[in-house]
Amino acid sequence: MPSLLGIEELPRPEIEAILARAKDFQPLQNQPHKKLDTLRGKMIVNLFFEPSTRTRTSFEIAAKRLGADAVSITASGSSVSKGESLVDTLNTLAAMRPNAIVMRHAASGAPHFLSRYLETPIINAGDGTHEHPTQALLDARTILDRTEALEGLRVAIIGDIAHSRVARSNVHLLSKFGVDIVLCGPASLLPPELAHIAPGVTLTHDIREAIREADVIMMLRVQLERQHESPFPAGEYFRFYGLTLEHLALAKPEAIVMHPGPINRGRELSSEVADFQRSVILNQVENGIAVRMAVLERIIG
Ligand code: NCD
Repeated sequence: MPSLLGIEELPRPEIEAILARAKDFQPLQNQPHKKLDTLRGKMIVNLFFEPSTRTRTSFEIAAKRLGADAVSITASGSSVSKGESLVDTLNTLAAMRPNAIVMRHAASGAPHFLSRYLETPIINAGDGTHEHPTQALLDARTILDRTEALEGLRVAIIGDIAHSRVARSNVHLLSKFGVDIVLCGPASLLPPELAHIAPGVTLTHDIREAIREADVIMMLRVQLERQHESPFPAGEYFRFYGLTLEHLALAKPEAIVMHPGPINRGRELSSEVADFQRSVILNQVENGIAVRMAVLERIIG
């Protein structure tokens, strides 16, 4: 596993190994001062061309917990804003000999393109509308913390599916484990070809149908930064696709609510749902560190 570019091409045993290893790292969450020395002497560079709170911070914490050094660079504060090309920026960073580059970019395929030019392993932290592999891994870890196995679960993914790299990576991962996946959103945000993206996927425009008998409800943010048409007014979107407590009665009694964040209360979910006892949004954030530790260890350990 030299680079981690997407879930689509990641074999199931590799996914299982990462999820199992992440579980070993979970208890460290309660010992914030404990550092391992697995990656002592190693360095990762976080290169983020798009905003990020969770992903960037958790990669940084994950690296430090394993004893590595982490340097974070945002595009606005780098020479990218002075006109340097992507390849030149990456070559410059690679010349400083990091052990891995964690990268987020607005262009789908950017990390794949660069991985052909660089020897340094690249970890995709989100490329355009394409993939966000560590998000799907931490989502799977979070689901598995509450259930024995992924097989046979019904997972509803609701919202702006068209522009969501989170949805795409989750579909690829869940599909490898025989999950029944329902994608739901307004017609303009749910292209019909997504029904063929992986086995086990069905589409619906009806949020109630999506939620019925679901074990997991995964809500997505409307990616306004990737939409070129004028978006729905927030109130209208919420009326049709916003998750409310009332909807949850349709799901299985133990169903959990997930969201990759950042959440927009009153747009894709109500405030009551966000703070609901079966909302695991902050557990997802917590698992982000354990999963990224497992990924870093696997790639540069
Ligand atoms: C997601 C992303 O950037 O793709 N956020 C994240 O990494 N947790 C989802 C989003 O921005 O809506």
